[in-house]
Formats: sequence, C-alpha cells, structure tokens
Amino acid sequence: MPDAPQVDLLSDTLTKPTDAMRAAMAAAPVGDDVFGEDPTVRELEQRVAGMLGHEDGLFTPSGSMANQLGIRLHVAPGQELVADSLAHVLRAEMGAAAVLSGISSRSWMAQHGELDAAQPLALMIPDGGAYQVNTRLVVVENTHNFGGGTVQPLDQVQALREGTQARGVAMHLDGARLWNAHVATGTPLDTWGGLFDTVSVCLSKGLGAPVGSVLVGSAAHMQEARIWRKRFGGGMRQVGILAAAGLHALEHHVQRLADDHGRARRFAEAAAQARPGSVDPARVQTNIVVLDVSGAGWTAAGFVEAAAARGVRIYPVSPTAVRLVWHLDVDDAGTTLAVDALAPLLEQGPPAA
Ligand SMILES: Cc1ncc(COP(=O)(O)O)c(C=O)c1O
Repeated sequence: MPDAPQVDLLSDTLTKPTDAMRAAMAAAPVGDDVFGEDPTVRELEQRVAGMLGHEDGLFTPSGSMANQLGIRLHVAPGQELVADSLAHVLRAEMGAAAVLSGISSRSWMAQHGELDAAQPLALMIPDGGAYQVNTRLVVVENTHNFGGGTVQPLDQVQALREGTQARGVAMHLDGARLWNAHVATGTPLDTWGGLFDTVSVCLSKGLGAPVGSVLVGSAAHMQEARIWRKRFGGGMRQVGILAAAGLHALEHHVQRLADDHGRARRFAEAAAQARPGSVDPARVQTNIVVLDVSGAGWTAAGFVEAAAARGVRIYPVSPTAVRLVWHLDVDDAGTTLAVDALAPLLEQGPPAA
C-alpha cells in the first residue's frame, strides 16, 4: 500500500467518525426500518424534513440514491430532466436517471456551476406535445461541487421557481452540501428548501457521518419514494446506528463548516499569490477550491502526481484543473502543509523535460 498522504484533500467524504459520534452510534435504539420500526431513523427523517421546511423525509444509503429517488418521483419514462452540464446527477451518477428511470436529460453550460435562471427556463419544453420530449424537472446543485463549491444566488433560484411553477415543471435540489451554503450565507435552510419540491442532503460529506443521506418532500412523495427505495435495493434494516451518526453530526458539525471555508479561502489566497489566475479567492465561498494549473504549465494529472510526491492528495477535475476539498479531518496545520507543498509547484511550474 502506498504511503498515506500527510494531507488528504481528495474529498470531504473521507472523514472518519469521531469518538463522540461512535459513542452516539453505539447507544442508538434501533428497529427494522423496512417495516418503519427504527426510531432513530424516523427521528432523523423528521428532524431533517423540519429543518428544510418539508413534511417528511426518507433516509437513504447515499446521495446518489436520494437524488435518483427525487428524479424518479417527478419524471416518468420517456420524459426529461434538465440540469447544468457539470451537475453531479449528470456527471457522476453513472447514467442512473437513464438506466433506473428510463428518462433523458439535457443541460446548459454554467460558469462555475452558478445558476442563471434564464438558461434552464430557455431550455425546458414543458409541453412538447407528440413531437418533443416533455421537460418535467430541473435539478439545481447547491453548493456546486465541480463548479468549485459555488453557492447558488438565492434570487436566481427564486426566479427559477417562479418560472417553473408557471410552466408546471418540478424542481429538485441536490443539496449534498446545502449545509455549507447555509453556513456561508446565513440563509436559513428552510428558505432554500422551500423553493424546491424535493431536496436531498448528505450527512457523509462535510458533516462527517460515515454514511447516509436524506430526501425530503411532501408526505405523499415520501410514501412513494419509500416504495422506490425498496425497489432500487435501498431498504435497510437496523440502520438507526447510522442515523445516529447523522443526528450527532447535525448537532455538532454544522456550524464548524465555517472553519473549513476559512481554510479553503486561506489556501486559495496563497495559491493566487503564487500563480495569479490559478484561482479567484473571492470565488471560494465554501470548502472546495478548483485550481487551474495550466497557467503554471502543468497538466492536471502531472500536478496531482507532483502534489502526491509532496504528501498532498488531490483530485483532477478536468485536463487542466484540480480540486481540493477541506473537511473535518484537515486542520490549520494541514492547511499550512498544503500551502507549503503546492504554492512552489504553482510558482515554479513543472521541471524542464
Ligand atoms: C453534489 C453531489 N451530489 C450528490 C453526491 C452523491 O453522494 P454519494 O456519493 O453519497 O452517492 C455527491 C457526492 O460526492 C455530490 O458531490
């Protein structure tokens, strides 16, 4: 096995449960959740639904399943969803919407994944008649992962809601990192949540739980989603032990996301100083930094390798850009290590061939 990196910025999914979280998991009352008998799971579902201003929730093993259930509820086979071209549902869920729900997708290009409501409104065809595919759903991602942790502009989400409601098109929020958007802006979670028909949120990213997501929506939608979850193979049994990790994270790990945001910004400022144009620190609103390494003469693959040789693990998001993600297990010292390791690479470029 290769040496473990000194600083692991590959993803915020890497976090290990804290001792306190493990204790909460061990103490959780459990039951068979397929029969709706796990009290800890129900507590989590209802807590998250309340936080997001929805009637009910459904615990799922992954964010991808929560998204795909949301999609399945709104779009029938032969209809379509629209989402931006960097959206996780299009780029990183292995074509699940096509495979599991038999639907097609179209996309618009969004700089940094940032929503401009006019783009999806121009793209959608809610009444395609007998010739064109009917658009039934718009998916918005907040914060936007591959866009660089971008927080969506609230006024654009509101404008999109008005436009879609007028056309009878539903909205699903991929809120894997909605917690980060909430902490970065102070906008209440139920303000974001209330603008969507369904919302998925992840407990296993910045919040530090080992597994789990929650889909929220109307009680009727959650009843239907429960059936589809079982059909997709996501019916789980005594998973109160996992839900307890989520409840613990909601209690203890939301406000601390501000620390991750501050560290990501500190790194971005150092990177921009070392190589102007590699990142705009003002755009680093949350825990993700996307660095353009081409100006320094690197390919993303070459930079990732050079970073690894200096003890820092990062991820290539395109041929020219890399992604760094801050999380519960990276502190100030780790951030300093990352700056000291990567700033010289940006400043000096690759070694001459
Ligand atoms: C924006 C976004 N949505 C959804 C997911 C899916 O979550 P999971 O890996 O739990 O399926 C991720 C995972 O990284 C993500 O970044």
